[in-house]
Amino acid sequence: MLRKGRLTSAQQHALDELWPHYGIDKGDGVLDFAGHFGRTAELVLDIGFGNGESTWQMAQAEPDINFVGIEVHPPGVGQLLMALDKYAIENVRVVRDDVVDFLRQRVAPGSIKGVRIYFPDPWPKKRHHKRRIIQPDFVAELARCMASGGLLHLATDWQNYAEHMLEVMAGSPDFVNLSGNADYVERPRWRPHTKYEKRGERLGHVVRDMLYRRK
Ligand SMILES: C[S@@+](CC[C@H](N)C(=O)[O-])C[C@H]1O[C@@H](n2cnc3c(N)ncnc32)[C@H](O)[C@@H]1O
Repeated sequence: MLRKGRLTSAQQHALDELWPHYGIDKGDGVLDFAGHFGRTAELVLDIGFGNGESTWQMAQAEPDINFVGIEVHPPGVGQLLMALDKYAIENVRVVRDDVVDFLRQRVAPGSIKGVRIYFPDPWPKKRHHKRRIIQPDFVAELARCMASGGLLHLATDWQNYAEHMLEVMAGSPDFVNLSGNADYVERPRWRPHTKYEKRGERLGHVVRDMLYRRK
C-alpha cells in the first residue's frame, strides 16, 4: 500500500512530463480557459476527481465539452495525466488545487456550464459533517461561477450525505432540483461508474444522484 500522497514513479513521471501540456498552473487572476484548451466550448468541472477515471471517460464520451478536473491529491493527478496521454484525450485540463480557492480566485462569474461532484469525501462522523464540501457558502460560490441554465450534478453513496446535500441545496436561492419531487434522479447517462461507486455498492450502499439547474 502506498501512503497517502506518495507517488509511484509512473505518476511522478506523468507529473514531470505531461503536466506542461494538460496542467493549469497556480496563478493569480481570472483564467482564460479557451486559451488553455485552444478552442472555445462549454466548460464542465469535475470536482475532486480522485484517480480521474470519471473525468477521462466523460471527456472521451463528450468530445465537444471542455472538461476541467480539479483534485488536490497528487497521485490521482498523476493517474489522470497518464490516462489522458494514453487515450490521446485533448478536451481535459487539470488543476491541482483546493477547489474552494480555485473557484474564488480563477473563475469568472457565469463562465461554467456544468459542475459534476461525484462521491465527495463523506465525512460520516457527525462531528466531521462540517468538513463536507457541500455547504451553503460553497454552493453560493458554485452559483456565482455557473451560467444560467447550467447543470450541477451530485452523487454520493452515503444516505446521510445525500440528505445533507438535499437540505443544503434546498436552502440555495440559485438552483432548482430537477427530480420533480425535490429529491433524487436516476443516474444520468453521462456519469460513469466510478471506483468509489463500486466500493459503495460492495458495502451495500444505495447510490443517489441529484441534479440541479442554475436559475
Ligand atoms: C472520495 S473521492 C471521489 C473521487 C471521484 N470523484 C470518484 O467518484 O471516484 C473525493 C476526492 O475529492 C478530493 N477533494 C477533497 N476536497 C477537495 C478540495 N477542497 N479540492 C479539490 N479536491 C478535493 C479528494 O482528494 C478525493 O480524491
